[in-house]
Amino acid sequence: MKFFIDTANVNEIREAASLGVLDGVTTNPSLIAREGRDFMEVLREIVTIVDGPISAEVIALDYEGMLRESEPLTRVHKNIVIKVPLTKAGLQACKTLRERGTNVNVTLCFSANQALLAAKAGATYISPFIGRLDDVSTVGMELIQQIRTIYDNYGFDTQILAASIRNPVHVLECALAGADVATIPFKVIEALIKHPLTDAGIAGFLKDWEKTKQTIGSK
Ligand code: E4P
Repeated sequence: MKFFIDTANVNEIREAASLGVLDGVTTNPSLIAREGRDFMEVLREIVTIVDGPISAEVIALDYEGMLRESEPLTRVHKNIVIKVPLTKAGLQACKTLRERGTNVNVTLCFSANQALLAAKAGATYISPFIGRLDDVSTVGMELIQQIRTIYDNYGFDTQILAASIRNPVHVLECALAGADVATIPFKVIEALIKHPLTDAGIAGFLKDWEKTKQTIGSK
């Protein structure tokens, strides 16, 4: 499973990239707003940090507007993936952009039927939002499983990009369900690293090492 980071914060992106686990980045209008920086400037910086797909979302809700906004975004770098909402206009824009050779991430997917439509429209990625479904008492992970089955049944090559991930269990269950990608907030990536037995193991090794009174590399 590929790991994307779900943020527009370049410091978080740099730190996650330094771990060697990062395959791409997703942004959305809320994440951009949180940074209080110019959208294009942020994108231009992100492409210098990560050599992988970077999702940039259009704001327009109409077909022509989506295509218009996609132009300056795609000009930033070949790795930019245009993110469109799962609406009628979004599907139309997805079809046209894919015909033009632009990668598209169809976002705000909350049902398997929506995911089927996005695949038929040629989406590069479909973004089902797990956490937001869990928030309204619907098991988000079941959506990932359903989409996996449907895409495998018909050989769609649209990649399942599990989004709205809130905790390490989401990441584990996405991997078990066969999601192609998980886009993960920085704090969840950090949480994946941690294990109390790792910390206890390090403390035990250091305590025993002190008894040897040795320093590595002193001779
Ligand atoms: C997906 O690309 C979105 O940016 C994101 O995963 C939404 O997550 P949220 O529900 O935590 O806002």
